[in-house]
Amino acid sequence: MARFTLPRDLYHGKGAMEALKSFQGKKAMICVGGGSMKKFGFLDKAISYLKEAGMEVKLFEGIEPDPSVDTVMKGAQAMLEFQPDWIIAMGGGSPIDAAKAMWIKYEYPDITFEEMCKVFGIPQLRKKAKFCAISSTSGTATEVTAFSIITDYHKGIKYPIADFEITPDVAIVDPELAETMPKKLVAHTGMDAMTHAIEAYVSTANCNYTDPLAIFAIKMIEADLVESYNGNMEKRDAMHDAQCLAGMAFSNALLGIVHSMAHKTGAAFADYGAHIIHGAANAMYLPKVIAFNAKDPTALKRYGQIVDYMEICDKKASDEEKVKALIAYLRKMNDELNIPHCIKNYGADSYPCEQGFVPEKVFLERLHDIAVNAIGDACTGSNPRQPSVEEMEKLLKCCYYDTEVDF
Ligand SMILES: NC(=O)c1ccc[n+]([C@@H]2O[C@H](COP(=O)([O-])OP(=O)(O)OC[C@H]3O[C@@H](n4cnc5c(N)ncnc54)[C@H](O)[C@@H]3O)[C@@H](O)[C@H]2O)c1
Ligand SMILES: [Zn+2]
Repeated sequence: MARFTLPRDLYHGKGAMEALKSFQGKKAMICVGGGSMKKFGFLDKAISYLKEAGMEVKLFEGIEPDPSVDTVMKGAQAMLEFQPDWIIAMGGGSPIDAAKAMWIKYEYPDITFEEMCKVFGIPQLRKKAKFCAISSTSGTATEVTAFSIITDYHKGIKYPIADFEITPDVAIVDPELAETMPKKLVAHTGMDAMTHAIEAYVSTANCNYTDPLAIFAIKMIEADLVESYNGNMEKRDAMHDAQCLAGMAFSNALLGIVHSMAHKTGAAFADYGAHIIHGAANAMYLPKVIAFNAKDPTALKRYGQIVDYMEICDKKASDEEKVKALIAYLRKMNDELNIPHCIKNYGADSYPCEQGFVPEKVFLERLHDIAVNAIGDACTGSNPRQPSVEEMEKLLKCCYYDTEVDF
C-alpha cells in the first residue's frame, strides 16, 4: 500500500492570500523570517486578513535562513504562551520549515529534537492548531510537503523531519510574493525545484500519482526558470506553480542522494564562511548524481523519458546519449543562472570563482564523515542506486573538483 498526501486546500494565483479572510479560529500565530515579508507589505496584508476573519494575531519574527534547533525551541515556547489554533508560516523554506517543527513541539512539549527526526515517527498533530503555509520563494515547496529541514549547528548537520503529519492543512501559492525575489534567490530556489522534480521522477518510490506532477514540473522549469531569472514576471509566476507541482511529487515519491549530499555539506564548512546554499548545492551535485544513477537500468530508462519529454535530444538516440544530453542541459542552466559547477569554485555570494571558500585540505579531511552522514540521510533510501561509503566519497570528490563520474 502506498499513501499520497497533500494539503486539504491549496489556494493559488494572484491575490490567493485573501483566502486568509475565510479562516475560522480564535488565535493565529504568524511565523516569518528576517524581514522581507514585512518590507514588501505581505505581512501587514496577512495580519489584516486574519483580523478581518476575527482572529487575534501574534507574530514570531526573525527566523533565520537554515533555521536552527534553538530557534525551533524558542518558537514553540512562544506558541505555548500564546496558544494559537492557527499557525500561519510565511516566507521561504526556512521560516515555514521552522514553524512546522515548532508546531510539533507546541503540540507535544516533551518531545526532543532527536524524536522529531525519526522518519515517519511524528505523533498525531492538530490537537491544538492547524497549519497554513504561504510560500514566498519558488523552490522548496514546503507549503505542500511532509518535510522540514532543521540545522543542528553544534554538529554542522541538517536534519530532515519527515512525516505526513506535518503536511500543511492549507497551502497558499500566491505568485505576487515570489515577484520580489532577488535574482540569486530565483536561481537557487529554481534549481532546487528542478532537483526535486528529477529526483522524484527516478526515486524508487515513484508511482502513477507522482510521475505526472514531476514530469510536468520539469517541463515547466525548463520553459520558465532562466527567463524568470532574467526578469520575466510571467515566467516568475509560472515558476511558483512549477515548484509547487514538483513539491507535490517529491513529498510523496521522496528524493535521492543529491539532497542527502546537499544536507550533509550545506553546513559542514560554515567555519570557513562557506554556507553552501541548498539550491546551489543541488545544482552543482545533480549532474554528477545523474551520471552515477544512470548505471542503474531503471533509472537510465527514466532519465531517457525525462529527456524525451523535455525534447532536448533525438528521440531515437540511446538512453546513454539522452543522459549525456540531460547532464549538458543542466550544466548549461547552471551557467545561465551563474551557479558554479563544483564546491572548489563555490565563492563569495555563491558565485563561481577560481578559488572558492572550501580549502581542498579541509574538504579531504572531512570527506569521510560527510560521506557516512550522507548515506545515513533520510533521502538516501529512495535513491535508485545505493552507494557504498567509498562510492559516496568518490562522488563527493567529483562534486568538489568537477570531474567526470565514471563509476
Ligand atoms: N521542507 C522541504 O520540503 C524543503 C525542501 C527543500 C529545501 N528545504 C530547506 O529550505 C531552506 C531554504 O529555503 P528557501 O530556498 O526558500 O530560502 P530561505 O527561506 O532560506 O530564504 C532565503 C532568503 O530569501 C529571503 N526571501 C524569501 N522570500 C523572499 C521574497 N519573496 N523576496 C525577497 N526576499 C525573500 C529571506 O528573507 C532570506 O533572507 C533550506 O534550509 C532547505 O534545506 C526544505
Ligand atoms: Zn530541496
